Amino acid sequence: MTPATNPNSHPEGWIPLDAHCPQGTTLLAATDFYNTIKKRRTVRSFSDKPIPKEIIEQVLLAAGTAPSGAHKQPWRFIAISNPQTKHEIRIAVEKIEREFYEDKASNRWLDDLEPFETNPDKSYIDTVPWLIVVMALRNTDDGGQVYYLNESVGIATGMLLTAAHEAGLATLTHTPSPMKFLRDILGRSENERPYMMIPLGYPSDDCHVPDLSRKPLDEICVFVE
Ligand SMILES: Cc1cc2nc3c(=O)[nH]c(=O)nc-3n(C[C@H](O)[C@H](O)[C@H](O)COP(=O)(O)O)c2cc1C
Repeated sequence: MTPATNPNSHPEGWIPLDAHCPQGTTLLAATDFYNTIKKRRTVRSFSDKPIPKEIIEQVLLAAGTAPSGAHKQPWRFIAISNPQTKHEIRIAVEKIEREFYEDKASNRWLDDLEPFETNPDKSYIDTVPWLIVVMALRNTDDGGQVYYLNESVGIATGMLLTAAHEAGLATLTHTPSPMKFLRDILGRSENERPYMMIPLGYPSDDCHVPDLSRKPLDEICVFVE
């Protein structure tokens, strides 16, 4: 009998689902989580307070639980605390950002960025205790095919940001373009495509963020019942 016709039959090697949320507490859990995650903000002003490597490891383990096309897990997280490496990255990033702000960005793009008061100064890369570079793997480490690469790495990155927030840490999703220089500085293989840079630390004592509002439910969601 196939599993479809007999619910008690399962493929060999499968395990029972270990669901973490007891039935009946779902609304409470969903509301609690929303109340936590709605406080996540992009931070651009960090403290230099150190963060133990063990905490970073847990955050990255959480990111690594993301779903991925055919479970190929096509990501690698390069976690950098070495001051020289961070400084080298800062210098390279600031050069690229200067080109962006002075030449490459359209006026419309610059206008759209104005509320965030961003500019080519990326001194927080020196300050922040950890810099995570997310790499998208073009192939698996043994040369196999990967599927839905951008979708998979995007979800893992979102889970990384969420796990960091849950741990009381602040993040910035930083996307200098192009990002190939990160592979060169970090001595990584051609198989790794730099996907995003995430400074990760505690916010500075006087950290302020732009007063943004988020779209209401009826704008982001359509129910078909
Ligand atoms: C794909 C992506 C790229 C981003 N790139 C940058 C960036 O290069 N520099 C920066 O300061 N913020 C960057 N951001 C952060 C956004 O500006 C920020 O998420 C947005 O303003 C909403 O603010 P919030 O994250 O506090 O809700 C990026 C965000 C995303 C999702």
